[in-house]
Amino acid sequence: MSTFEKNMKIRKIHVSGYEDVVELIDESRGLHAIIAIHNTSRGPALGGTRVYPYATFDHALEDVLRLAKGMTYKAAGANTQTGGGKSVIIFDNKKPKPKEMLQAFAEAVNYFKGRYICAEDVGMSLADMGIVGHYTAYAVGLPHPESSQDPSPFTAFGVLKGIEATVEYIWKSPLEGKIFALQGLGAVGMELASYLFWQGAELIVADLDQERVKKAVKAFGATAISPDKILEAPCDVLVPCAMGGILNSESIPKLHCRAVAGASNNQLLSAEDGQRLKQRGILYAPDYVINSGGLINVCTELESSGYSPKRARDQITKIYSILREIYQRAEKRNLSTDIVANQIAEENLAKERKNNEKPCLRSWVNA
Ligand code: NAI
Repeated sequence: MSTFEKNMKIRKIHVSGYEDVVELIDESRGLHAIIAIHNTSRGPALGGTRVYPYATFDHALEDVLRLAKGMTYKAAGANTQTGGGKSVIIFDNKKPKPKEMLQAFAEAVNYFKGRYICAEDVGMSLADMGIVGHYTAYAVGLPHPESSQDPSPFTAFGVLKGIEATVEYIWKSPLEGKIFALQGLGAVGMELASYLFWQGAELIVADLDQERVKKAVKAFGATAISPDKILEAPCDVLVPCAMGGILNSESIPKLHCRAVAGASNNQLLSAEDGQRLKQRGILYAPDYVINSGGLINVCTELESSGYSPKRARDQITKIYSILREIYQRAEKRNLSTDIVANQIAEENLAKERKNNEKPCLRSWVNA
């Protein structure tokens, strides 16, 4: 029996619709994790590792299942050669993470022999990923010169392409002179503000961090607004780049925009909110489609010729046509855009994989 098998308690949990859900506990090294593989029909399940002090095991399980399924749809929607999976480590991410816990986690990832590939997520830093990457080849987005590094500029570029598709669809015009209300000026939001500025857009911005707001006002001539007013700001396009759940039964009636197109994950609070937006005549760019640039960028690492920012950029440009197709279909079939995005992702999942090339993992294990 290997040290891994001796130390690690492995419990398989049967969850209908998921290929593998496994709880992994290594008490001696302080690891309590769950790895969920939702679907590998298009390739290995790729999804970040979230480190969070979940109040209960069931909260952690619920989160990992929701996120893993979300990754299947995101990957299928973006047409990457990956499937959907996710992992969570139940740990207080305010405390420094013990190196041996990250090593034990990497060994847990190895247990799946490449069916699951991990990456950075909330609570996991690039430096932490560097440690994980010493012990498993099944990790991407590492602090290594040949790795894809910070995804945010690529995510922002994908959102820009999505905004172009949205504006073109509604107004048949470029972005120049259109008013964008940007919620959140973080890694993605600030980069996007810059891209929009250079396209001649007018910006209204809000962030909890006043330094970031000042920066955008100075650099892009943006108009500042308080964070509690940004969703109601009169504008052409609302661009959420902060947090999830912002589109709901309370906020949707107060929106003063013609479209919502931004990077935030899980923008719709409930399944009905897509329909609510449609009823108000607001065109919604489904979040997991418009924000897939970061995923596309990291997936480029798995191609046989290795990571290339140019290939990532070219692939991300396709977000424009993917969104256009969603808008056209939604209009034709009188459906909300989130429903159509899910339908297209499901169709892609059902298709035979055209390219059977195996993802190529470059190992820096113990490098
Ligand atoms: P970040 O943490 O760098 O920036 C978020 C910004 O939003 C911060 O400046 C924060 O102060 C601000 N903020 C928080 N609450 C706010 C509020 N109520 N009103 C106004 N501003 C508020 O995050 P990042 O990386 O820019 O991501 C933004 C969103 O995009 C998140 O929802 C993230 O999950 C999503 N996303 C990010 C990707 C990436 O490549 N970074 C990829 C795909 C999705």
